[in-house]
Amino acid sequence: MPVMNILQFTDPHLYGRIDGKLRGVETDTTLRAVMADAFANCPDHAALLVTGDLVQDDPAGYIRFRQIFGGLQKPVLCVPGNHDIPDAMRAELRGAPFQIGGTFHAEGWQIVMLDSYEEGEVGGRLSQQELERLDDALTQSSTHALVCLHHHPVHMRSRWLDGIGLANAEDFWRILDLHRHVRGVAWGHVHQDFQGQRGSVRLFATPSTGAQFLPGSDKFAIDSRPPAYRRFTLAKDGSIATQVHWVTAPAARRATG
Ligand SMILES: [Fe+2]
Repeated sequence: MPVMNILQFTDPHLYGRIDGKLRGVETDTTLRAVMADAFANCPDHAALLVTGDLVQDDPAGYIRFRQIFGGLQKPVLCVPGNHDIPDAMRAELRGAPFQIGGTFHAEGWQIVMLDSYEEGEVGGRLSQQELERLDDALTQSSTHALVCLHHHPVHMRSRWLDGIGLANAEDFWRILDLHRHVRGVAWGHVHQDFQGQRGSVRLFATPSTGAQFLPGSDKFAIDSRPPAYRRFTLAKDGSIATQVHWVTAPAARRATG
């Protein structure tokens, strides 16, 4: 395969109940619609990437997550978000196809997954141990790297979101600046599409598979954009092609109730 396709599904916010709703959206319904669209458009994906908030504060949501993702025969790469329950997540998603944290190597790339969960906080922080693991992973392998975490490590030009990002982003960037083979950083949490660049590192935020937040808003505000996912195409030369796909199929319509 000359390139490797990765599908990112983020912030599904599942509940144990199939009809659980968050901000007017049935999160199980929209996730399934988004996945169906992604698999139809990109059947040759090498792995799935889920960048946090797998559940909405409900440990039974992991059973549903396992039902949806467990039989896909592709690696399901996960990091926790602020609405996750890390112990329950690790217990329910133990073993293949799930990988929580660590590094995934394939096709001349490494995907480094970081845990930015901080108990009792909406914002995130990388522990000293996690920062050291990041540095070690990037030291041990010089293959092209895509680094993933839940919380945004740059400002999103949104006052309320910028108060709940990665608290120690300077520590994160200090390590990345030492490793020139980092090609991109991808996150969830902000429920909106964003692309940027910091030096030679490309930056990607991805909309939720459910409801979205209004970009650029000073206060919490919901956007009317539909559920979405992101496709990454990672090339051997280290270049990244990517596109957000918004899914407006009837099955993914916003519930009105
Ligand atoms: Fe979220």
